[in-house]
Amino acid sequence: MADKTNLQRLPAEELFQNELNALMAAEKYPVPAGWRMSPRSVLTYICGGRAGDTPITPKYIGHQRLVEIAIATLVTDRALLLIGEPGTAKSWLSEHLCAAINGDSTRVIQGTAGTTEEQIRYSWNYAMLIAQGPSPAAMLKSPVYRAMEEGAIARVEEISRCASEVQDALISILSEKRISVPELSVEVPAKKGFSVIATANTRDKGVNEMSAALRRRFNIVVLPSPESLEEEMEIVRSRVEQLSAGLGLDLSAQLPAGDVVEKVCTIFRELRSGQTLDGAQKLKGTSGVLSTAEAISLLANSMALAGSFGGGTITDRDLAAALQGAVIKDEDKDGVAWKEYLQNIMKKRGSRWLGLYKECAELL
Ligand SMILES: Nc1ncnc2c1ncn2[C@@H]1O[C@H](COP(=O)(O)OP(=O)(O)O)[C@@H](O)[C@H]1O
Ligand SMILES: [Mg+2]
Repeated sequence: MADKTNLQRLPAEELFQNELNALMAAEKYPVPAGWRMSPRSVLTYICGGRAGDTPITPKYIGHQRLVEIAIATLVTDRALLLIGEPGTAKSWLSEHLCAAINGDSTRVIQGTAGTTEEQIRYSWNYAMLIAQGPSPAAMLKSPVYRAMEEGAIARVEEISRCASEVQDALISILSEKRISVPELSVEVPAKKGFSVIATANTRDKGVNEMSAALRRRFNIVVLPSPESLEEEMEIVRSRVEQLSAGLGLDLSAQLPAGDVVEKVCTIFRELRSGQTLDGAQKLKGTSGVLSTAEAISLLANSMALAGSFGGGTITDRDLAAALQGAVIKDEDKDGVAWKEYLQNIMKKRGSRWLGLYKECAELL
C-alpha cells in the first residue's frame, strides 16, 4: 500500500479504519443491502460507544435523535438533505455517514455556481470521443453515476449553490433511480443501497433557492448550532484535540486550557446571538458567522502560534490576535461591534477576563 503518513488529510474511513473494522466484526444486527454495517452500528460509529473491546469515539456531538433520523432516511430510498448554519457539521456528518455505510466517503460533488449538469451525470474524455466515438471507455462517470452502479451513497455539497438546471438533473436521477446514456443507448438502473446525501447552508438562501420539487425528493434534517455553552465547549475541545494531533501541533504546544475554550465559546455565542449569555445585555452582532467550526480553527491556529513562537501555552496575547482576525471580517462594521463588545461587556467581567481584554484593546 502507498505511504499515506504524509497526506494532509485522510478520508474518514481511513482515519477511523480500526473503529470501522471493529464495528463490522462485532455486528449483531441485520445489514441493509449495499451497506457494510447495520443502522445501529452506524449510529455507534457517529455518536460513540463500544464495539467489542474497541472504544468508538463520538464524531457528531449533539442530538442522537437527529442522527437516527438521518440514518433511517438512508435505509429507505429517500435522499437525505442536511441543512443548517455554516459550521454545524453538515459536511462532517455526511462524510462520516458514508464512511460507515460504504467505507468510502469520497464520491463527492462540490456544488458551486459553476457546477454543470455533466458533473452530476457523466461527461466524456474528448480525445477518445473524437478518435473512437462514444464508448464506455471514453465515458467519465460522475460520483453520482458511480454510486448508482455500485449501490452506494454519493455526496453533493452545498447543493443550493448550484444553478437550477443542475438541481433538475438531480431530481430526475432521484425520482427515476436510473440514468440514461443516449449516446450509448443504455439505461443504468441504480443498485440497492444507492442514495444521495446533500448539504445546504441556510445562510445561502436566495443564492439559488432549492426548488420545491427537489426538496420533495429529500428528507430534510436540520443541524442546529450547539444548544448550550457546555455542549459547544465539548465539541470544540474534542475536535481541537483530534485536529492538533493530526497536524502534530500537540508536539510543541499544549491543548487549550478549559478556561481558554470557555472564553472563546462565550465570545462567539454572544456575538452570534446579539446578547450576553445571561440575556441581560444586548450587543451588536458581526457580519461573519462565528461558527463552532471557526472556534475550532481559531484555537488550532493559536496552538500553532504558541508552539512555533511562544512558550507552548496559548496566552491572552495569542488569543487576542486570533479573536480579532476571526471577529473582524468587515473592517468598518465589525470593528465597531468588536470595540463595543470589549468596552461594554468584556472589560466589566472582572479579573478573570481582564488580561484578555487588555490584549484585545491594545490591538485596536
Ligand atoms: N455538533 C458537532 N459535533 C462534532 N463536530 C462538530 C459539531 N459542530 C461542528 N463541528 C466541527 O466543525 C467542523 C466544521 O464542520 P463542517 O461539517 O465543515 O460544517 P458545515 O456545516 O459548514 O458543513 C468540523 O471539524 C466538525 O467536527
Ligand atoms: Mg459544509
